[in-house]
Amino acid sequence: MKKTLFGLVLALCLVGANSVQADSYDHEMKGAGVTFSWKVDGDTLHGKLSAKTKGWVAVGFNPEEQMQGGNYILGFVKGNDVEVVDHFGTKKINHDLDEDLGGTSDVTVVGGSEKGGTTTIEFTIPLDSGDQYDTVLVADGETKVVLAHGPPRDSFKARHRKQAIKTVNLSTGAVK
Ligand code: HEM
Repeated sequence: MKKTLFGLVLALCLVGANSVQADSYDHEMKGAGVTFSWKVDGDTLHGKLSAKTKGWVAVGFNPEEQMQGGNYILGFVKGNDVEVVDHFGTKKINHDLDEDLGGTSDVTVVGGSEKGGTTTIEFTIPLDSGDQYDTVLVADGETKVVLAHGPPRDSFKARHRKQAIKTVNLSTGAVK
């Protein structure tokens, strides 16, 4: 009985700890209907994306022209599966899986949900993955951050209707 009670308390503590970690972001920005919350912890960026869509939500970092040269994290939730991918902008209006280009997938999925028509994904990425198909994020410098979400389709090929781009200091949270 004592053991069961101990197990229950431990399980509750662990659930509590997980949700506290997932909710504790330092900064937030909004654009194109997407809310991006994040925190820089050492050499890791913890991110959360949320938008009123049953399709994908995404953030992009440092595109050079339109989508070219940017590092993109896109995710959708289908049933119980949270699918998150690491893409690179190969052309102004095209991006592909880093892995298909000969690079590596450097995103770690932390969680995700689709509730009441809102899709949320949580992930971590290294600031500098070492992959040529990711951009190096300088935390206390200027980073171009792009936000977009897709139509209500669980497909990474479905195009966004709008996008927002802002210049952000990932460390301080200052948004220009
Ligand atoms: C999922 C598949 C996607 C498709 C099929 C797609 C398609 C396109 C197309 C066709 C354009 C050109 C639009 C135009 O010139 O009017 C465009 C522009 C753009 N997209 Fe995407 N896109 C996708 C995902 C994303 C994502 C995930 C982001 C960022 C989070 C993004 C950010 C942008 C930006 C910044 C532009 C440039 C807009 C401008 O020139 O003002 N796209 N996209």
